[in-house]
Amino acid sequence: KPLVFSGVQPTGNLHLGNYLGAIRKFVALQENYECIYCVVDLHSITAQLVHDDLPGQTRAITAAFLAAGIDPAKHIVFNQSRVPQHAELAWIFNCVARIGWMNRMTQFKDKAGKDRENASLGLLAYPSLMAADILVYRATHVPVGDDQKQHLELTRDIATKFNNDFSERIAELDVGVEMMMGEERVNGFFPLTEPLIEGPATRVMSLRDGTRKMSKSDPSDLSRINLTDDADAIAKKIRKAKTDPAPLPVDPDGLASRPEAENLVGIYAALADQSRADVIRDFGGRQFSEFKPALAELAVEKMAPIAAEMRRIMADPGYVDGVLRDGGERAGALAEETMTSVRDIIGLLQR
Ligand code: TYM
Repeated sequence: KPLVFSGVQPTGNLHLGNYLGAIRKFVALQENYECIYCVVDLHSITAQLVHDDLPGQTRAITAAFLAAGIDPAKHIVFNQSRVPQHAELAWIFNCVARIGWMNRMTQFKDKAGKDRENASLGLLAYPSLMAADILVYRATHVPVGDDQKQHLELTRDIATKFNNDFSERIAELDVGVEMMMGEERVNGFFPLTEPLIEGPATRVMSLRDGTRKMSKSDPSDLSRINLTDDADAIAKKIRKAKTDPAPLPVDPDGLASRPEAENLVGIYAALADQSRADVIRDFGGRQFSEFKPALAELAVEKMAPIAAEMRRIMADPGYVDGVLRDGGERAGALAEETMTSVRDIIGLLQR
């Protein structure tokens, strides 16, 4: 049965990249799938242990989910640490995954920097916790931005190795499902999760440098549009966005070697629910001095109501906490079902 899972870290401000690459898709998928959306607080202590206001950040991401249009009554919204089965399965996956797999993760290499010996062990094991987030629900589909692609490949590697290593136990206990592994039909316990990475904004770039990803950790606030920016801030950041001097190309192929132009066109397309080709049809040949105000107006139109709704929701932390508590209970029941089988498969006594 198809099931969607995704997570967002409560670290720093949510930005347009998080919204277009992930949260907007979370909202759209609710229509046709059962969905579980998680604020991954345990992930946010991997790169930085001490935070100023982790509870406030966790509530803010939750408020952003709700403000964007996620329905916590029909679907599940909760914070990761509330369901300890995530950490329990992550430990087991630490024993399934190989150190070499973790060492190859580009996000680990980026975040650990030069002094890798000094990175936390949690940062190295990050993808194993992420695989546990997804597989503790045996989720089949995961909407994310392009930067998470490698982590989802690793999630499939972990599922595959677990299914292979325990194939006899899975068959004996009759807890598997039929699935295709390449050409082969096998009986596996964990599904091979599909990433959902589509559309014109799977990788939104910095407004100051079209070759770098828009990111929560960029020191320049002008590099990103925050979900909480007001109309003036949004307009100013788009006006100041780096561009090259040429007008927009008349053919979408002309965007290929122009990262800043490509990024702004991609953002416009995603906000307007169009393709890049649609945007070029309307704006091809025009100067950025014409395109940028149109983009700013569209961004304000789409983002400002979300920011306002987010502020309204955050004014009532009791409501937000209630959503997380209720979501956590429902998620916990599903996760425990999986873990009961996992303990049987491995040979851990039930508790
Ligand atoms: P995080 O918190 O860094 O980002 C949340 C989501 O936003 C996407 N994203 C972007 N999309 C387009 N352009 C960008 N510039 C951009 N920046 C971020 C991310 O791809 C992500 O979808 N490891 C995850 C959190 C996580 C998770 C999971 C996700 C933990 N467990 C299980 C899916 C399933 C992360 O750090 O996302």
